[in-house]
Amino acid sequence: MSTTVNSALEVKSALLNTYNRFPVQFSHGSKSYLYDTDGNKYLDFLCGIAVTGFGHNHPQIKKEVENQIESFWHVSNLFESSEQEVLAEKLIKASGLDEVFFCNSGTEANEAAIKFARKVQGERSTVISAIGAFHGRTYGSLTASAQSKLWEGFKPLLPGFKYVEFNNIESLENSITPDVGTVILEPIQGEGGIIVPSNGYLKEVEEICENHDLLLIFDEIQTGMGRTGKHFASQWFDVSPDIITVAKGIANGLPLGAVLCSDTVGKKIKPGDHGSTFGGNPVSIAAANAVMNLLDETTLSQIHSKGKILQQKLKGINSPFIKEIRGMGLMIGIEFTEDIKAADIVKSLLSKKIITCPAGKNTLRLLPPFIITEKEIDLFEKTFRGIIEDLHLKSE
Ligand SMILES: Cc1ncc(COP(=O)(O)O)c(C=O)c1O
Repeated sequence: MSTTVNSALEVKSALLNTYNRFPVQFSHGSKSYLYDTDGNKYLDFLCGIAVTGFGHNHPQIKKEVENQIESFWHVSNLFESSEQEVLAEKLIKASGLDEVFFCNSGTEANEAAIKFARKVQGERSTVISAIGAFHGRTYGSLTASAQSKLWEGFKPLLPGFKYVEFNNIESLENSITPDVGTVILEPIQGEGGIIVPSNGYLKEVEEICENHDLLLIFDEIQTGMGRTGKHFASQWFDVSPDIITVAKGIANGLPLGAVLCSDTVGKKIKPGDHGSTFGGNPVSIAAANAVMNLLDETTLSQIHSKGKILQQKLKGINSPFIKEIRGMGLMIGIEFTEDIKAADIVKSLLSKKIITCPAGKNTLRLLPPFIITEKEIDLFEKTFRGIIEDLHLKSE
């Protein structure tokens, strides 16, 4: 790989060893591209893992952020904020829910959602989540993330969680006992490998939750904020959850998370039940207000159509190495057979200056920006096709 190795990283790093990092350092970005410190240009098909939907250095978002930085950076949630109110109104309008709590990240949004759900459900405190889910790294979210590799070394987890198979309605039905009060699901499992719900699954989940008086939380941290071509992926399935959690793309790269909830949940929450020093900080809120203004119906339908074009082009690649191509909007997974490793394809793409990442067991995850052009989609397809063709030649 002809990438730069930061010489500082060749000696022992002062950073805790929590990430396997690629030896590439970026100096700046513009639209769908990032530039490394050697001046190489990379097509960003990852968006910082579903974060920078409107690309790098978007002028409108930048202007709003700069205006806020000129005014003040932080005052705390002890004071009123019309900017938070405006953003909350926009999120309510987009989701059909009633009230919003702001925090800083995805895992925090899920922690808050789990707390709110337990406050509403009282003794029915058990939360059901799906095997393969990823909800975050703090203890509540981690316990809900049913992947044993995430739990190794960190037990005991929190009590009051149960796990069901995703896309298996019987598995959910069979696990409902009198202690269960809440179900949390990603409408499309992201980290789990872009696992799309089977026909009717989410609607049936909603019905079961209604029949058993369970709260339904959709973790839309990866699928939300336009990623699938609607504000929230659950809207494709005509399902109305009680709570939606969002983060990642909400502020195009600044830290912000939100819990959107129904009145039923909202009315149980009182001052002091939950809070955050930084949650909904003015600079992130300014960015998110700009993001919500940009995320209009035209943009959403373009996300949908660009996603279709990308999937169609990828499906035109005839290869026995490709097991399945799936996803919605600009959230697409390419699952490979055991013959090749998704992580190796990520490395090959990076050497050809395209940024992606793996997900699940053996899936290449594509999360290009909403502003991607057809030319850039073609560039991706051509490069990816070339890598697959090279692998065919090598295997002959
Ligand atoms: C669906 C989902 N939920 C929660 C999280 C955790 O978000 P964060 O890393 O901001 O805590 C992620 C992150 O990848 C995610 O994809």
